Amino acid sequence: MATALELAAAPHDTFPINGTDYIEFYVGNAKQAAHYYRAAFGFQLVGYRGPETGVRDRASYLLEQGKIRFVLTTAIRADLSPEAKKVAEHVQTHGDGVHDIALWVDDARDAFAKAVERGATPFLEPTVLHDDQGEIVTAAFKIYGETVHSLVERKNYRGLFMPGYVAVAPHYAPPGVGLKYVDHCVGNVELGKMNEWVEFYAHVMGFRNLLTFDDKTISTEYSSLMSKVMANGNDRIKFPINEPARGKKKSQIDEYLDYYQGPGVQHMALATDDIVSTVTSLRDRGVEFLSVPTTYYRDLQQRVGKIDEDVESLSRLGILVDRDPDGYLLQIFTKPVEDRPTVFYEIIQRKGAKSFGAGNFKALFEAIEREQELRGNL
Ligand code: FE2
Repeated sequence: MATALELAAAPHDTFPINGTDYIEFYVGNAKQAAHYYRAAFGFQLVGYRGPETGVRDRASYLLEQGKIRFVLTTAIRADLSPEAKKVAEHVQTHGDGVHDIALWVDDARDAFAKAVERGATPFLEPTVLHDDQGEIVTAAFKIYGETVHSLVERKNYRGLFMPGYVAVAPHYAPPGVGLKYVDHCVGNVELGKMNEWVEFYAHVMGFRNLLTFDDKTISTEYSSLMSKVMANGNDRIKFPINEPARGKKKSQIDEYLDYYQGPGVQHMALATDDIVSTVTSLRDRGVEFLSVPTTYYRDLQQRVGKIDEDVESLSRLGILVDRDPDGYLLQIFTKPVEDRPTVFYEIIQRKGAKSFGAGNFKALFEAIEREQELRGNL
């Protein structure tokens, strides 16, 4: 199915994107959140913008690992500017969450004009940011909930990240855990809205529907969801969109929508070349993962065939395996990384497989439901 769609849609990319530029979170306390991502996830703090650099009402921490760039922004004085007020209100409504999945493009003005012409709602008109390292052109449009896509053109910029940020090299610099790049970012939208957003990505941004999971594929005894994976022209950007489906009990997507108070980013999948080593480090540093029953590993070999990894290690760490026609993948999911049951992470290693672990959905969603039950939300 996916192959036929690729052949039909691949020849002309109507919205060229080079890759994910950065993901910006609005958080309640960026200083502490930055420490968590450094200590637990092995990100390096490389840049900062705040009162000391001339921005009086907000602070932003730039974290990097491999090609992954996270920006954590907090409001210091919500009364001083509309920008700071927006950050504070975002946090009040959603808790810590993703505000911006920024995309790296060659021509931000052109990409913005195309998106708006095709129906996107503007968030930021094209803006040029200068410093002695050159200039960045950026613009942004809205997607689901209060989330946006910034477009970032950096071909005339030689600096660290963006004008306004200063490089930092703190004494505290825990080693990385082998995270390389953002594999995919998943959005949760309301019942009945999945196809609207699928249509948005197809029409506005030239994405194609790579895979579709209906409520029969993704269901447990109690709840279900539907999901469509959208991919851009060069396949570097993949955005699965989930919506809840009716079940006997409340689905994990409904729980998210209740606690995030609307649609938003549910999880980001971060890729590694050595998942056993990455997950071992993350666990040692306090990252909590969902666990599956040991019975999952009993018939693993029959289900997925021969794999390079030692099943004993996978079982000890709770890493899941799935195979598709192109190869196999290994994946594991963290518990939510904050008190609201909203944002979490997936750690993924692809060994040829281009899919998303459909064979693990049942075991995984049963694990999520056990956690929902503990929170009193099932
Ligand atoms: Fe995922």
